[in-house]
Amino acid sequence: MSEAPCDLLVVGAGAAGLTAALTAAERGARVLVLTKGHAPDSSSMHAQGGIAGAVGDDDTAALHAVDTERAGRELCRPSAVKVLTEEGPERVRELVALGVPFDPELSLEGGHSRRRVSSVEGAATGWAVTSVLGRLAARTEGIATREATTALGLWIDGGRCLGVVTPGGPIAARATILAMGGAAALWARSTNPVGQIGDAIAIAHAAGAAVADLEFMQFHPTVLAGSRLLLTEALRGDGATLLDANGDRFVDELAPRDEVARAIVRKGRAWLDLRAIDRSRFPGLMVEIEKAGFDPATEPIPVSPAAHYTIGGVVTDLVGRTDIPGLFAAGESAATGVHGANRLASNSLLECLVFGRRAALAALDEPAAPVRPETPPLSAATPVAAHPAAPAPPRERTASQELREQVWREAGVMRDPADLADLAGSPDVVAALVARFALARSESRGVHYRIDAPTADPAFEGHFVLRPGQDLKLEHWT
Ligand code: SIN
Repeated sequence: MSEAPCDLLVVGAGAAGLTAALTAAERGARVLVLTKGHAPDSSSMHAQGGIAGAVGDDDTAALHAVDTERAGRELCRPSAVKVLTEEGPERVRELVALGVPFDPELSLEGGHSRRRVSSVEGAATGWAVTSVLGRLAARTEGIATREATTALGLWIDGGRCLGVVTPGGPIAARATILAMGGAAALWARSTNPVGQIGDAIAIAHAAGAAVADLEFMQFHPTVLAGSRLLLTEALRGDGATLLDANGDRFVDELAPRDEVARAIVRKGRAWLDLRAIDRSRFPGLMVEIEKAGFDPATEPIPVSPAAHYTIGGVVTDLVGRTDIPGLFAAGESAATGVHGANRLASNSLLECLVFGRRAALAALDEPAAPVRPETPPLSAATPVAAHPAAPAPPRERTASQELREQVWREAGVMRDPADLADLAGSPDVVAALVARFALARSESRGVHYRIDAPTADPAFEGHFVLRPGQDLKLEHWT
């Protein structure tokens, strides 16, 4: 027998997971939050620039939507963009009320037509937001947290998700939300914590949930060379310039980040010059740069792109529902279609707040779980009730450095179909899926660039979706 089900099981303790947990607990639900590592170490915690949202006097949700859709290159799902941009300002105001110490000035980032990014100390936004939400969750009756607990698979019974299977046994819940972040650490150069290798995609796919848009990995252009340290786009918003080996500027620093990333790759080497900006707006980040051995007051800093944000994921509707009853996804684990082919800067923390809340509210409408469901008849490390057509996930997914190097080489900023074909044979389910999706999209759009097809093709204006037992299909989401 397993333990009695909780009302809501949230896998992940970043901004989406914490928002979902708090939303449900406020309504009296008993919530269990699971984390693979130590709770604070989420991608959200490392997010720097901030939270986009039309909170300025000169701004509206409609203007924010226009910028989001322009960045997304004809692929944003309009209904999701409307939800994100209209509900966003209220979510930001709630954080203010909870005590997140936002800077007095809004920041500017690439692709935004005006200053609309709320940030903390310029580049400590993710840390500030997850600290405030995490502290609130820790003192909220009704929320329990279990750290160092990997979700190895989903517990599916009669077509419904009843929870997850962990090394310590199954955990039952009326509803389960996957808020486990993305897959960017599967690339050798990444801004993400090393564990962010796409576990939500792997376990949901194994259980028969649809996944989509996996070709769209967003590369952040300005990451300190040879490290994981992001140099926030807000620095460029404040006037930092990108220089080549001759000390000349070569790109519009505030162009959408896919364009800036490719310009840097074409140059080979690039430096971010912070000498002329007000560096005191970014105190923590300046300390990190100095710790890495550079003096931002006297020298340009070497930067290069790194995998940063997973646009694709587990397919959901606008309230986080996947196509498995009882299973939801939110934040970077989900593919709502909101980002199209290129996420607008600082729309990701916003997505966590807006869709994390929506998923929790919808999850509470799920019917009660069986009182004490029978333990699934499989060992904890075995994939549970996988759809017959879906490949089984490994027992505990890990990524070797060799795999990460291969993914970086074969599915990087500029993609060659021969490399993708090689990666498609990878034994790692997520690496192979990324390659399959990237091969299918034989055009270049947003963050996905194919050297053999360098322009966008209107025939590909849709989302590639993989449903169990089917081939990849292009779908049009409204
Ligand atoms: C940044 O601060 O440049 C990253 C923020 C984001 O990924 O939207």
